Amino acid sequence: MALVEKKKGDGAGWAALRIQKPSVGSWTQVYPELGTGPISYDDSISPEFFEAEREAIFKRCWLNVGRVEQVPKPGSYFTKELAAANTSIIVVRGADQKIRAFHNICRHRGNKLVWTDYPDREDRGTCRQFACKYHGWRYALDGKLTFIQQEGEFFGIDKEKYGLVEVNLDVWEGFLFVNVSRDPVQPLREFLGEMAWGMEGYPFHKLTQVFRYRSEVKANWKLYMDAFQEFYHAPVLHKRQMPTPEMAQALYEFGYHGIHYELFGPHRMIASTGRTRIPRDDETVKPIDRLTRSGLQGPWDEPDLGLAELPRGINPTRSPLWGLDSFQFFPNFVILVWKPNWYLTYHYWPLTVDTHLFEGALYFVPPKNAAERLAQEAAAVTFKEYGLQDANTLEATQSMLKARVVGEFPLGDQEVLCRHLHKVAQDWVKAYHA
Ligand code: FES
Ligand SMILES: [Fe+2]
Repeated sequence: MALVEKKKGDGAGWAALRIQKPSVGSWTQVYPELGTGPISYDDSISPEFFEAEREAIFKRCWLNVGRVEQVPKPGSYFTKELAAANTSIIVVRGADQKIRAFHNICRHRGNKLVWTDYPDREDRGTCRQFACKYHGWRYALDGKLTFIQQEGEFFGIDKEKYGLVEVNLDVWEGFLFVNVSRDPVQPLREFLGEMAWGMEGYPFHKLTQVFRYRSEVKANWKLYMDAFQEFYHAPVLHKRQMPTPEMAQALYEFGYHGIHYELFGPHRMIASTGRTRIPRDDETVKPIDRLTRSGLQGPWDEPDLGLAELPRGINPTRSPLWGLDSFQFFPNFVILVWKPNWYLTYHYWPLTVDTHLFEGALYFVPPKNAAERLAQEAAAVTFKEYGLQDANTLEATQSMLKARVVGEFPLGDQEVLCRHLHKVAQDWVKAYHA
């Protein structure tokens, strides 16, 4: 690795003073299979390609649907709509403490089993068993059919054969993943690969204070992933978030320089610069940030996570300028670890070729007092502001890609992760067809 020096004033500990680049001089050219030419976004506007993604990707990949804390005790359950895989699932902790997943369908005449008021809305709660609203068939928490209304009229039916249809479920570091294919290509940990292994040991289980956002976005799911896997846009699109116009201009002129980009099979990560210390009293920050001691990068006062050292995959170059890592798990799950000891997750759930459901969640150590709670709330609303700016822009992008007046788009070196995602999606579709 060669070290590239860039000079810049250290305003509030934000500056990217030095960046490390691979010795060949480019992040993209480390991976010759990606090429450097312009790319097509046909994969984000073609209805045929979207249908192919359903079969080749969303029905075959491990998909993160939540965390173990969402099913804390026997009978705790939640449902998840997996429109891209044409199903809805129930995730439930059994009386034996085992967490299982089932397709959310009654074996009698196919009614959706678990929902309240609106069949297409996700549901959660605690129960002793699942009872179908239509004719009252009942299922135990392990999926076994236990009761048939007027069973005698069902021609000696064998209840053993009519349990709920199980979905593969596995857990990695407390994250619940499902795979709707009957025979997954790889076990979960192998699928997640080295990028995940490098994160193992991070105390995700201690960060249980969660703030959630969800929104339907009129853009292809990959376009929103792209917006959060490059920060090249940040000094431009988010410039109004800077405390003063002068600071926005300075950032704009300096540009964005990531610390490290790396690909791991279908997955990818970027390590980024960020705030490295608490702003001094004489430094210019937004008044609300000073008041709440918080902001985009989270609460200024870091909770103690009891970690002697970060797992090796987090801030992998051990840069002193490190502010966050964004880990992009194929196909649609992101974990963003921030230096001040908190993390974010993003999910992008495709609905149609040009719409998806975006979910963002912020995870903190439970606050011990009102000030800590306020600092977390401030981080959450700041995140929302950024998210709205990104999402608006993507709807504008999608609307023009559809016009098909331009077929190919040049990507810069720091857009290497975008280049990779589109290639991987296309490769999975090609491999499936082959
Ligand atoms: S469809 Fe569920 S009991 Fe009839
Ligand atoms: Fe952004």
